[in-house]
Amino acid sequence: MRIERLDPSDDTSLRGCAAVYGAALDIDDPDGSRMPARVLGAWLREGFTGDPAEGWLARGNGPGGVIGWYRLELPDQENQDRAGLLIVVHPGCRRGGIGRALLRHAAGRSAAAGRTVLSGEVRDGSAGDAFAAAAGAAPGIAATLRRLDLRALPAGKLASLRAEAAAAATGYSLVRWAGPTPAHYQAPLAQVLQAYADAPHDAGVAAETWDADRIRERCDAPLQAMGLRVYTVGAVHDASGELAAMTMVTVAPDSPRWAHQGLTAVTRPHRGHRLGLLVKIAMLDWLATAEPAIELVETGNASANSHMIGVNDALGFVPSAPHFHTCELPVADAVRE
Ligand SMILES: CC(C)(COP(=O)(O)OP(=O)(O)OC[C@H]1O[C@@H](n2cnc3c(N)ncnc32)[C@H](O)[C@@H]1OP(=O)(O)O)[C@@H](O)C(=O)NCCC(=O)NCCS
Repeated sequence: MRIERLDPSDDTSLRGCAAVYGAALDIDDPDGSRMPARVLGAWLREGFTGDPAEGWLARGNGPGGVIGWYRLELPDQENQDRAGLLIVVHPGCRRGGIGRALLRHAAGRSAAAGRTVLSGEVRDGSAGDAFAAAAGAAPGIAATLRRLDLRALPAGKLASLRAEAAAAATGYSLVRWAGPTPAHYQAPLAQVLQAYADAPHDAGVAAETWDADRIRERCDAPLQAMGLRVYTVGAVHDASGELAAMTMVTVAPDSPRWAHQGLTAVTRPHRGHRLGLLVKIAMLDWLATAEPAIELVETGNASANSHMIGVNDALGFVPSAPHFHTCELPVADAVRE
């Protein structure tokens, strides 16, 4: 087995990575969505928030010559002590030390980039969970994927929730845009994204600091590079003109049954007015006409994020087992693995 850097313009290897990932998810999340090759390709180069990343392949007799791969994200704004890692090995090639070899390699890359902590996510009870435990990784916060099946939404449910949210949100108006953030909303959106700092996160993880430039370069540009259709709904406080809340959803053109929930945030002074519910309902209303092929909306929530989970429960999102959790491993320990 050879470990080789992924050339993101090499379509055969990229399709191999997508096939290996698909085979792994067929075990860990058989009903879940699959990342289309173009999205995967862009994600292997940079994160959804533009952090640089690199892909490395385990070469062998697998699809496109790929039997496994890893993606290493090396944040270059906050969290420069950390590296995010996902290792995937084809189910037909497991328990032969490939995962461990990729981990050691990724740790070497991380150490060379000055990182001291590797972090990742594994599904509870999965092979990844056992692998992380065997490597000595410590478990972090728990999270759950939730799905909303739009085909099963009872008639009238959204209308009654819309009325409830609107009654609590007098003095706020809805705004929306498709695609990149319009120039006049870049700075206001950056302010709202700051609210994400209040969402549960692992102790050593620093919140991101947003401004208008970062919205353009680190939010809009990566999503466009992935070829995603992006929908954003906001709530503006009429009296002050402030953007008080936002929610964002992406749809991959080659996977139009699925909508992926991005961030939803309400700024502190405007919490308690059901704005989270209001913007998410407005989003579902919009998607019904803009993306009529969508059947399922997927979202991930930290288990401690009771407010967001409350909104999602009200809308009819259902947890999709298995749950997952973050994990962390000192780079120095992984180098020795
Ligand atoms: C996690 C994953 C990458 C492991 O790949 P792998 O090539 O099988 O890993 P290794 O053979 O190097 O396993 C190393 C050790 O991890 C542990 N381990 C791995 N899979 C295990 C399983 N299914 N059950 C119990 N222990 C397991 C064992 O201790 C193993 O050593 P051993 O085989 O000598 O007992 C693979 O299962 C996978 O792709 N899972 C889906 C993606 C994922 O969850 N990734 C998270 C890791 S960042």
